[in-house]
Amino acid sequence: MTILVTGGAGFIGANFVRDWLCEDRGPVVVLDKLTYAGNLGNLAEFLEDPRLVFAQGDICAADLVARLLEEHAPRAVVHFAAESHVDRSIDSAADFIRTNVEGTHCLLSGALNHWRTLSPVAAREFRFVHVSTDEVYGTLEPDDPPFRETNPYRPNSPYSASKAAADHLARAWFQTHGLPVLTTNCSNNYGPYQFPEKLIPLVVRNAIRGQALPIYGDGRNVRDWIYVSDHCAGVRRVLEAGRPGEVYNLGGGQEKTNIEVVHAICAHLDAVSPRPDGKSYAEQISFVKDRPGHDRRYAIDSTKALRELGWRPGESFDAGVRKTVDWYLDHLPWVERIESGDYREWVKRQYEDLHL
Ligand code: NAD
Ligand code: TYD
Repeated sequence: MTILVTGGAGFIGANFVRDWLCEDRGPVVVLDKLTYAGNLGNLAEFLEDPRLVFAQGDICAADLVARLLEEHAPRAVVHFAAESHVDRSIDSAADFIRTNVEGTHCLLSGALNHWRTLSPVAAREFRFVHVSTDEVYGTLEPDDPPFRETNPYRPNSPYSASKAAADHLARAWFQTHGLPVLTTNCSNNYGPYQFPEKLIPLVVRNAIRGQALPIYGDGRNVRDWIYVSDHCAGVRRVLEAGRPGEVYNLGGGQEKTNIEVVHAICAHLDAVSPRPDGKSYAEQISFVKDRPGHDRRYAIDSTKALRELGWRPGESFDAGVRKTVDWYLDHLPWVERIESGDYREWVKRQYEDLHL
């Protein structure tokens, strides 16, 4: 009953593995390269747990992938590993092409070879869940309906283009080879263990350090926020009950402008950890140069996941953001520990260019 989870030391992957083990759903093998975004500390309580095997390695390493599949004979691969930060992909796209495109190809090929050795029953039950993003669909106008699975792909950033390429490979491995691949396209996640280069943890971190809260452009870009455990529950439902070859959009159904998000964080911080001078953290907001190619709006229509899988997100944005802010306040040493040289260098380069 083992599953192989790639990227299980990153934000969503670690939440997925933690939830999986807490619910005692079976053994997990995690394959993770531990890039700047990967952190074994995200799985700390489980590192001695016999149900978890951690393999540090690259999804582009065909031999390693083949060995793990042969040794552990997982019933499923759940593929989270990726380079995931849009701003970094604008800075340099090479790692995105390598991991997101070549790495996904390597995993699909390894999984196909493995799948072909399985008994008919095991082959029928095998699953490859490819975890992707709503960003592959491009941007929406204010009055456009939310993205459906049938929307055309129109990626605008190097990140979303690399994920779109991976999605096409996943589709082709089902259509051509029959590998039981399922793809999820999810909206913006937030919650515990998110690396503080992404908007929500970055704002919490900067706020409590008395630093500027950088908002790109006019702050009116809209994202559809989903609490990470809701996303993980959606991936589990796809794994359990999704139809091979199908795509499932998973969204939080909670569209917010970036400025609304930042104000919500500041309001909660004002309540639970007020600034010594009594002013609001919102005073630290600073509008900076916009991200090139910045998608204006994302929104997800999750009707198919609800209809076919009975999945719907449970967390409201207001409660989820309060929980998330509280988690970061309670885990400041976690934030300090992951601020590696790479992260400091990145923040310096990115935000100095934005004149912060
Ligand atoms: P993350 O950047 O926090 O974590 C990525 C993990 O993958 C890290 O542990 C990293 O070490 C690992 N990794 C990177 N390159 C690797 C390689 N070559 N080999 C093995 N491991 C490697 O990302 P995340 O936010 O947890 O996103 C996980 C997945 O979900 C990604 O595929 C992403 O595209 C998708 N997704 C993310 C969001 C979001 O809001 N964060 C939304 C929708 C979909
Ligand atoms: P991000 O968390 O990077 O996710 P994505 O780009 O994948 O949607 O950014 C969320 C939104 O917040 C996006 O519209 C860009 C914006 N943003 C800022 O305004 N300032 C920042 O410092 C960051 C990192 C993001």
